Amino acid sequence: MKTIAIVNQKGGVGKTTTTINLAAALTLLGKTVLIIDLDPQGNASTGLGLLRADRNQTSYDLLVDGVDIDDTIHETSVPNLQIIPSDMDLSGAELEIGEQAGRTTRLKSALNSLSPKPDYILIDCPPSLSLLTVNALAASDSVLVPLQCEFYALEGLSQLLKTVEMAKANINPALIIEGVMLTMYDQRNRLSAQVAADVRKHLGRAVFKTMVPRNVRIAEAPSYGRPVLMYDRNCAGSIAYMDLAKEILARRKPEQKRGT
Ligand SMILES: Nc1ncnc2c1ncn2[C@@H]1O[C@H](COP(=O)(O)OP(=O)(O)O)[C@@H](O)[C@H]1O
Ligand SMILES: [Mg+2]
Repeated sequence: MKTIAIVNQKGGVGKTTTTINLAAALTLLGKTVLIIDLDPQGNASTGLGLLRADRNQTSYDLLVDGVDIDDTIHETSVPNLQIIPSDMDLSGAELEIGEQAGRTTRLKSALNSLSPKPDYILIDCPPSLSLLTVNALAASDSVLVPLQCEFYALEGLSQLLKTVEMAKANINPALIIEGVMLTMYDQRNRLSAQVAADVRKHLGRAVFKTMVPRNVRIAEAPSYGRPVLMYDRNCAGSIAYMDLAKEILARRKPEQKRGT
């Protein structure tokens, strides 16, 4: 099992879109995947067609009330893709667990009792570096950072990386950066190419080869409660998320050979 936190403290940069569509792509490559929605906005839950009324036990119940993790797992319309949904209650979670011992490792502890374990867990984080995101960092093997191909892309990144370093130093020494993923890339826009080149210059191999284009099908899919791969399999957005999933699986291989 590998757990990846999808993190960026900015909103609207493609975290939820990447969580849903990377998850769908991984299932099409034969993996089982569990999404944990850690954003009180619940966009990953909605984007996978889970009505609010159907969210019985949520990530809030898991973190705050210590509900059994099995009771929080919901099926989605995508085979081999499950989700622990969220709702607005989660916005109060930080206050409720903020003073408790072990407040940063509640998600990690909950995941320990998960059985059977999926091949991948993807955690959709809220747009902040708050206690919820720290819980995700504590529970994860790696961090995937979506970056929008826009002028301010790199702004805030150093703060994000500092938070990852802090999590590494204090709660999760094995945490690594899975990669930085450029998204909403617009071929016709010179700024997009410039930003992409800039980010690659700064971050080198940490940046995924795959770039996700700005693609209207990606934006349309959530209103049908489906990943873009189940909405328009052959659009540019679908192809990009398949490429990203393959890149992640390929990166994993050398490690497995070494038996780590
Ligand atoms: N590659 C893309 N092309 C077009 N629209 C996109 C793309 N990625 C995300 N979007 C849209 O941009 C908005 C913000 O994306 P979202 O994934 O919700 O960001 P975040 O979770 O970081 O707030 C959403 O409306 C989404 O549908
Ligand atoms: Mg989101």
